Formats: sequence, structure tokens, C-alpha cells
Amino acid sequence: MADPRETTEKYTIKRFRSVGKEDPDYGQAREWLRAVGFGFHDEQRSDELIDKILAMYQADNRELTGVYVNDEPPLHALNPGFPVATFGTLENKLNVGYGRELPTRQITAVTVRGTHRRHGILRGMMTADLADAKDDGFAMAALTASEASIYGRFGFGVATFERSIKVDTGPKFRIRHEPVGRVEIADPRVLLELAPEVFERVHHRTPGSIVRQDAYRHQVSGAMNREGAEDKAIKCALHYGPNATIDGYVSYKFAGWDTKPYTVEVVDLVASTDEAYLELWQFLGSIDLVDQVSWADAPVEDPLAWALVDGRCVTASDYRDMLWLRVLDVPAALSARRYGADGRLVLQVHDALGFADGTWELASDGGLVTVTEVPGGNPDLSMDVTDLGSVYLGAVSPVILASAGRIREHSPGAALAAQHMFAVERPAHCLTHF
Ligand SMILES: CC(C)(COP(=O)(O)OP(=O)(O)OC[C@H]1O[C@@H](n2cnc3c(N)ncnc32)[C@H](O)[C@@H]1OP(=O)(O)O)[C@@H](O)C(=O)NCCC(=O)NCCS
Repeated sequence: MADPRETTEKYTIKRFRSVGKEDPDYGQAREWLRAVGFGFHDEQRSDELIDKILAMYQADNRELTGVYVNDEPPLHALNPGFPVATFGTLENKLNVGYGRELPTRQITAVTVRGTHRRHGILRGMMTADLADAKDDGFAMAALTASEASIYGRFGFGVATFERSIKVDTGPKFRIRHEPVGRVEIADPRVLLELAPEVFERVHHRTPGSIVRQDAYRHQVSGAMNREGAEDKAIKCALHYGPNATIDGYVSYKFAGWDTKPYTVEVVDLVASTDEAYLELWQFLGSIDLVDQVSWADAPVEDPLAWALVDGRCVTASDYRDMLWLRVLDVPAALSARRYGADGRLVLQVHDALGFADGTWELASDGGLVTVTEVPGGNPDLSMDVTDLGSVYLGAVSPVILASAGRIREHSPGAALAAQHMFAVERPAHCLTHF
């Protein structure tokens, strides 16, 4: 087991902050990051790259957990300072709709070395961390998953989705929109400063958005790609609103003359107004010598196809889960939200790990929200905590989960009432991979 509050015979668990070079823990952080790279099959990283990444981690104030074997390893095997398992956490705000934010524990960099897998190390790290997060006052934990079969057992449910799109920007591409602002090309390095500012505005209007980690501005500006090198292919266009405020940008690359049809790839596209979004697409559609624009991380609910004269210019693929949420504290999570409709529902939540187990009455009346524990109360709906995470941002319908046999409806119409209540003002979409 890998509870960081314990040392077992086999393993020692250490938890430490990502620190600066002068700190005695720095060597430990470097080995930790190398272990993460090993777990995700990355190429070996140079010391220089490790240092750059750790500087970004320090800006994020990440906490790093490593699991270390106590035994002296055999000759030539990796030294014991190289953890056999890693687990990273950050704390950021999640937009839970109607401009409300909830501090959320983000979990990332989960790896267990193959030679130590299926000994309960992940279970130990996860359950201990969720308990600590709850003790620290977090009502919600979040992650993105490499495989869909791992995290349900720990109470995480899929809460937002994304997909990949290809947009035909040939003669058929025409957006029905009269520009109100303008788009200008800029040196992509300006995004080092601008990207967080613009993103913050986007974050405030997007349910499901989580504040981005420091690495984003480096990647989208081309200052540093995943291998640590400058990304000289990146280009950038800024959108200026009618009052000359920069309210959106697109960072993009040409895929090269060997890629046919000739393609521009969107690296990042964020817009804090509907006009900025459409006008950035008008710009992308106007790039000469290019037949299509691809975007790997596009929203599922996208105004683009509706704004196009010919919506079939957009072809979508690879619809997939994105953000997974884990409710740790039901009353705190439900009270943090504002609801799309007034109503009253008694929700019974099952949680195998115990954090969120119980029955609560949720009432929303003219924007006033109350959540009251009603032990033994007659539920309108009963569900696992995973399903509460799924419906929380309004992107998954309780009616669908009832049809799937996941949510049980005890009062007729309660699933539909829950769908109306959990609705948010814009489709939930998380623009932050972590
Ligand atoms: C996924 C990973 C972290 C699991 O670590 P582990 O220490 O072997 O997991 P545990 O032994 O604690 O297993 C915990 C539970 O999860 C299950 N599980 C673990 N990995 C799983 C997988 N890939 N798919 C389905 N179930 C999995 C185990 O069967 C076990 O189930 P149970 O406790 O309900 O019986 C590890 O295999 C790994 O590092 N994989 C590569 C990197 C990766 O994918 N990380 C996740 C990033 S989001």
C-alpha cells in the first residue's frame, strides 16, 4: 500500500513540493519527474529540460508524491532514489456554471512502474490523497484519464467531453457573421504574457473550465514544446474586440507540404466572446494555400457548424471523455452551484470510499440554494458518487444515466427535473489538459 502517511516494510512514501534549484529536495524532484516520463513512455529528458519543467511546476505549486522501494536494488537496476510510483496534485478553480468557481484538487502524473503494478500502489496513493483533499476542505477532485476503466472505482465520473475536428476551408467555407472586431497576426511570443490573461476571461465564461497550469503559455507561444525546444512552427493571430481589447487568440501551425490536403493545425484557440470565436474561424478559413484546418481538442458543442453556410464543412471524430470529477463533499459541492431551474430533489449518494455517502435534499428557490442532510429520507433519485460527478456540470443527462441503469428514479420525472436543475448557461467544456 502507498499511503503517504505510512511507511511499509516494502515502500517508503514521500510527499514534497516542487521546489527551486537551491532547495535540498530538488534532486528528489528531478528523479520524480524522470519516473513520470518513464511511466508515460517519454524519451529520456535532459537535465536542462527537467529544470525547465520543474520551474513551471514550481509556478503551479504542485505537490509531488513518490513511492520508493526500501530494499537495496540489485546490481545495475535503477537506484532507489528513482520512485517506483508517482502522483502529482495541484489546486485550481473549476468553473461550475453561472460564474461560480469551486476550488478543486487536480490529480495528475499517476504512474506505477510495471515491475510494481497491481500491488495496490495506485489504490493506496489515491485513497490517501482523496482523504487528505477532503480534510483540506476540497469538495471536488478532478483528473483526466489515460484509460476509462481505472478511475470509476475511486468515485470519478466523466463530466465533460471533447472531440477532434477537420474543417474544410475551401470555397464552401463561409461563416454567416459580420465582423465586429479585427484579427491581426502577432509574434507568438506575445502569448507568454497574453495567453493567461485571455484565458482567464474565457475561463470565467465557460462552465467546466479549470485554470490552466503554467506550461500552457510556454507551449502555445512556441517558447517551449514538449521536448523543451523552441517551437519555430507556431504562428499566432490575435482578436481585438470593438473596444480594441484582445479577447481571443489562435495559436496554430502549418502541417507541412507533405500533408495533403494542405492543413493548418490549431494548437490553441480561446475566445472570450462569441464574435471573437467566429472571427478567429473566419481568419483560419482565409489562410491561403491551405485546404483544411484541424483541431485535435475541439469542443463537442460548437457554434462553428451552425454559423457556417454549409455545416458539413466540419467533420468530427474521436469523441472522448475529458474531465472526470469526484465529489468529496456533497453539501459543499451542491451549494457551490447555481441551478438552471428551481426545484427540490432528495438525492441519495452511494460512495464505496465513504467520503460522499448519504442522503441530501437539494433545493433551489429563486437562486437561493439550500442543501440539507436528510438521513433515511425518501430519495427521488439514488446514484453512485461517480454519477453525481457526471451530472454536476450539466454535460451528462440524468435521464440518460437513468436509462443506462446507473441512476435510479424513485419519483417519476425526477431525472428530468434533475436535468433541468443541473443545466448550466453554456455547454460545459474543459479547455485544460493536465
Ligand atoms: C494505471 C496504473 C497507475 C495502475 O497502478 P497499480 O498500482 O497497478 O494499480 P493498483 O494495483 O492500485 O490497482 C487498483 C485497482 O485499479 C485496477 N486497475 C489498475 N490499472 C488498471 C487499468 N489500466 N485498467 C483497469 N483497471 C485497472 C486494479 O485492478 C485494481 O482494482 P481493484 O482494487 O478494484 O481490485 C499503472 O498501471 C500505470 O502506471 N499505468 C501507466 C500510466 C497510466 O496510465 N497512468 C494513468 C494516468 S491517467
